[in-house]
Amino acid sequence: FHLDIDASETDKGIYPYYMLKEVDEQPVVMHRLMERYFDEQGNVLIGKAILDEINAADRVYIIAAGTSYHAGLAGARLFEQWANKPTSVYISSEFAYEQPLLSEKPFFIFLSQSGETADSREVLQNINEAGYHSLTLTNVEKSTLWREATYALPLLAGPEIAVASTKAYVAQVTLESILAYALADNQDLNLMEELSNIAVAIQAIVDDKETFKNVADAMLVPASTHSAFYIGRGVDSTVALEAALKLKEISYVQAEGFAAGELKHGTLALIEEGTPVMALITQPKTAGLVRGNLSETTARGAHPYTIVSKSLAKEGDGYILPDVDPLLAPLVEVIPTQLLAYYTSLGRGLDVDRPRNLAKSVTVQ
Ligand code: G6P
Repeated sequence: FHLDIDASETDKGIYPYYMLKEVDEQPVVMHRLMERYFDEQGNVLIGKAILDEINAADRVYIIAAGTSYHAGLAGARLFEQWANKPTSVYISSEFAYEQPLLSEKPFFIFLSQSGETADSREVLQNINEAGYHSLTLTNVEKSTLWREATYALPLLAGPEIAVASTKAYVAQVTLESILAYALADNQDLNLMEELSNIAVAIQAIVDDKETFKNVADAMLVPASTHSAFYIGRGVDSTVALEAALKLKEISYVQAEGFAAGELKHGTLALIEEGTPVMALITQPKTAGLVRGNLSETTARGAHPYTIVSKSLAKEGDGYILPDVDPLLAPLVEVIPTQLLAYYTSLGRGLDVDRPRNLAKSVTVQ
């Protein structure tokens, strides 16, 4: 048995934790994906058989768990809005035991860092028995989900060792965008160029670690912080879920990610003096509405922090992100949330890479 891994990839090197190393690797991971999946002219290099099958399907079903599920929620927007392909995203442990009514010609996409998550394997087994075709996007070539799906494409993120997934999320959303772009009739955007810009933007964010350490120290590390919220609308609401998961799993702060407009229907009752509320604002259509929702929380004493695209920024905003295509914003805005989680865990003296009760790969149902 031979593991095809470069020794330097599994060595922490100068890093105190794998998570920080993996956060830093994200621009490189994006470049690796671009090299693999584009030719020099920016045309997508993905097998015709895969594209034909997705084109022929009347609905794409994305199946995943955890962070991969959140990457699926972001990717579904790309399939629907770029490729005009109806797309549903399911948590694998739910789909496995209560299969929804399927469309006439479904096609399945499995997202999994490890390729071994038992719940996702269960779904794949079921749909294989039913004779449906599938594509796995995974970081581990020759894993079970890789082998048992009709098609598989590698995420090329390199070994991800920290329990909290970071670079696999960015790789998944990047590869979903490439797939959706290949399926789109109208390719106004130069995706290769846009992804290169995003890799540069990510580099600038990871080079700005001190900023996030300071924000975490001020808002999230103090023991008086028991809960925190991330809010956003549209695809930002999916990043809010991922941001909250990251914070929960490694810092043990009770965190919730919310579609900003839904906060007032109950959860607003939890806002107290000093509760951190982080707003993700990258969607031009709804930026003003999210700001309105944030004010509803600050009026009740919340401590706000905004992560905002440059063209939507206002005086007093927290962190300004470069402008990118709004549907690709998750790739950029997720990075500050990873670093906030990292520095909260670190500041609380926890084991960043090995949070209590959790495993990197969950092979039980
Ligand atoms: C575990 C990991 C998560 C991961 C999830 C799904 O819970 O701790 O980081 O997102 O499994 O794993 P997969 O390998 O299928 O992406």
